[in-house]
Amino acid sequence: MIKIAILGFGTVGSGVYEVLRKNAASAAKRAGEPVQVKYILDIRDFSSHPDAALFVNSIDPILEDPEIDTVVETIGGTKPAYFYVKSALEAGKNVCTSNKELVATHGAELLAIAVQHRVCFLFEASVGGGTPVITPLHQCLAANVISEVCGIVNGTTNFMLTKMEQEGMSFDEALKEAQNLGYAETIDPSADVDGIDACRKIAILASLVFGSEVHPENIPTRGIREVTAEDVYFTQKMKLAVKLIAYARRNEKAGFACGVEPMVLPAQSMMAGVSDVYNAVLVRGDMLGDTLFYGKGAGKLATASAVVADVIDAAKFGPSVHDSLFWAPTAPQKGKITDEA
Ligand code: HSE
Repeated sequence: MIKIAILGFGTVGSGVYEVLRKNAASAAKRAGEPVQVKYILDIRDFSSHPDAALFVNSIDPILEDPEIDTVVETIGGTKPAYFYVKSALEAGKNVCTSNKELVATHGAELLAIAVQHRVCFLFEASVGGGTPVITPLHQCLAANVISEVCGIVNGTTNFMLTKMEQEGMSFDEALKEAQNLGYAETIDPSADVDGIDACRKIAILASLVFGSEVHPENIPTRGIREVTAEDVYFTQKMKLAVKLIAYARRNEKAGFACGVEPMVLPAQSMMAGVSDVYNAVLVRGDMLGDTLFYGKGAGKLATASAVVADVIDAAKFGPSVHDSLFWAPTAPQKGKITDEA
């Protein structure tokens, strides 16, 4: 029996619980043993939950329990997630997370700790939601030198741009709709609309592809706040489409360049056809050429399915997964990583 703890019972954490219940038999078959949730850490009151006995409000019993193989972190942010994840890895437990802020800002350090303690630190769900991107990059595409990774990695802004394009909504109307549907944060939607979320995701992909830590603060980032209904209307008239694109590419001058910005693309292009909360990541390999990963970039069960896949991989492959999934820590650069740098 693989015993796990879920940290944070919000959208993704409760999704992980649901996926493990619904697909218990197939998860057990793939992992080699049944996967059982032994603890759920959440400080909110879940006393009326059917499995109330699983809930704890401190990390200590989880860290101290030798039966816990894997900790799933779905709290988000870095406080207290960073401390919990670091402590879990140091206690010899695998960690699977959907937390892109954590991976983008502390990924190199946490990977090194995982390697040192012979455990797994896996984060497929941190980019692309449920759409596989990270695992194919370091496994299936391992024989390629990757020259570029780019695409639509934020579902919320893609949803908003789709509404502006297809229904003529203003930025504010599209944002309100995204908030009503639970995509964008109600109080402060800036992580999505200002490109910060996309910046964190491309920092993760760039670090993986280039093998050394790419810091989000070095990535020039512009979101969609300045995109107006008129911009969208006129680009559409010219058979073009506005998309928020994140990119990381090798270049001869600077080694590599990264960025996040709204771009105007031919309406017929594959990327322009990506609508709603869908994500699409194009990977350019020297042997394979271009490959497109397309699918749901957000949502409870979609994202949770990627986390559960990591739980299964941790059980199946163990720390050998870090032979290919690793990047080295580097000090932040001075200035932005652009083509001109
Ligand atoms: N806010 C993110 C998005 C959630 O809209 O893509 C998934 O990472």
